[in-house]
Amino acid sequence: MAEYLFDNTAAQSPDRFSALETCYDHVTQDNLMRLGVGVGWNCLEVGGGGGSLGTWLADAVGPTGSVLLTDIAPKMAPGRERENLTVERHDIVNDDLPEASFDLIHSRLVLLHLPERQQVLERLVTALKPGGWLVLEEFDCEWTPVLDAPNAAARDLFNKVHGAVLQLLSEAGADVAWGRNVQAAMTKAGLADVSSTTYAESWSGGSTGTSLHRVNTEQVAAQLLDAGITQDSLQEFWTLLDDPSFVVNSYPLITARARRQA
Ligand SMILES: C[S@@+](CC[C@H](N)C(=O)[O-])C[C@H]1O[C@@H](n2cnc3c(N)ncnc32)[C@H](O)[C@@H]1O
Repeated sequence: MAEYLFDNTAAQSPDRFSALETCYDHVTQDNLMRLGVGVGWNCLEVGGGGGSLGTWLADAVGPTGSVLLTDIAPKMAPGRERENLTVERHDIVNDDLPEASFDLIHSRLVLLHLPERQQVLERLVTALKPGGWLVLEEFDCEWTPVLDAPNAAARDLFNKVHGAVLQLLSEAGADVAWGRNVQAAMTKAGLADVSSTTYAESWSGGSTGTSLHRVNTEQVAAQLLDAGITQDSLQEFWTLLDDPSFVVNSYPLITARARRQA
């Protein structure tokens, strides 16, 4: 079976969660507020990781609402507990899900990693109440152009090392372009009112954004060496990620939303 490449037992995972939260939570929160999430909603947060969005949702739905946060390896940061927030260890591919139970199911950067993503999407639809919303937020990892670099060699180095990371992800069963495929997958699953928005920004060397590339490459350094990236190249890559004259496009986060037919 394909294995999730960036598993949560690694020392890098708190830094990954923290970078994702800093770079993308404001986007997710805007998207969910625009959708109208509010008091009394019952929500499922799938692959909730460090828990920031589960906690935010719990505060948004208030004491008459509820949030179930699931993850194959939950890593809730301290202080994020709430009365109306339940955290469960749960594998979204294989474990049971309640039927027709949620007003909102949200998941960010989880289905991208799962080879069974279309079946998981279809399972999530059955867990929605009629008229309930499914919101999937996923990267298109194939659109990360270098926007500025100290020289042409630096640009090539980024593309080479990042390309090797994407290759490892693909070999582990990820669809690195899944973001651009979600809208069609939702339509295929019979959902209504399907639409998408995309968010991206520039990440300069030394920023929280480029630190995401650092933690990811640190976690899979051994596999990158096996794939032919040299130790010197990795070291130069990490130095480049701290160089303010290096600027790369963030991973575009594509937010796709749709409703279960009422
Ligand atoms: C890239 S992290 C994203 C975390 C969080 N959603 C965020 O955006 O900050 C992917 C998360 O999916 C979880 N995950 C991976 N495979 C899973 C599965 N089969 N069932 C549930 N969660 C899974 C991982 O443990 C990890 O917490």
